[in-house]
Amino acid sequence: MAGVAVSTTINGDSVEYLCQPDETLLDVLRDRLGLTGAKEGCGTGDCGACSIILDDRLVCSCLVLGAEAEGRRVETVEGMAHGEKLHPLQQKFLEHAALQCGICTPGFLIAAKDLLAKNPDPTEEEIRFGLAGNLCRCTGYDKIVRAVQDAANVMKGA
Ligand code: FES
Ligand code: FES
Repeated sequence: MAGVAVSTTINGDSVEYLCQPDETLLDVLRDRLGLTGAKEGCGTGDCGACSIILDDRLVCSCLVLGAEAEGRRVETVEGMAHGEKLHPLQQKFLEHAALQCGICTPGFLIAAKDLLAKNPDPTEEEIRFGLAGNLCRCTGYDKIVRAVQDAANVMKGA
């Protein structure tokens, strides 16, 4: 199969790559670009472990083709910290111990970032609704919700 040449922006950087027409964006990120933050839990759009933001929209990168990133803006978990300085969500996930195995964590962080960008002061119900597409088999979700509430408070005050 002939490759597809793609020019896109990932975490603010211009990126070019070649991929197969049927290759998912998740596979491109992980296997071609070394951005292994997004995880493959299911490969069918059900778990949210592969969540990224594509042109300000939260998507499952396992359901997007690498070729579809042409000319668009991709945000992954790797773009959240600034050097050594963690994003408030990352910091609060650590402080609240809102992770165990960590497989779901990058997806939750990106989904929570998207949620807070659109709703900086969410209720607990809105947080739970906003993160409903992300599954965690370890934490029981409460610590994740507390971490997002706490990060929202920090970000409001910033
Ligand atoms: S790996 Fe994409 S939703 Fe589960
Ligand atoms: S911390 Fe293990 S799946 Fe969420």
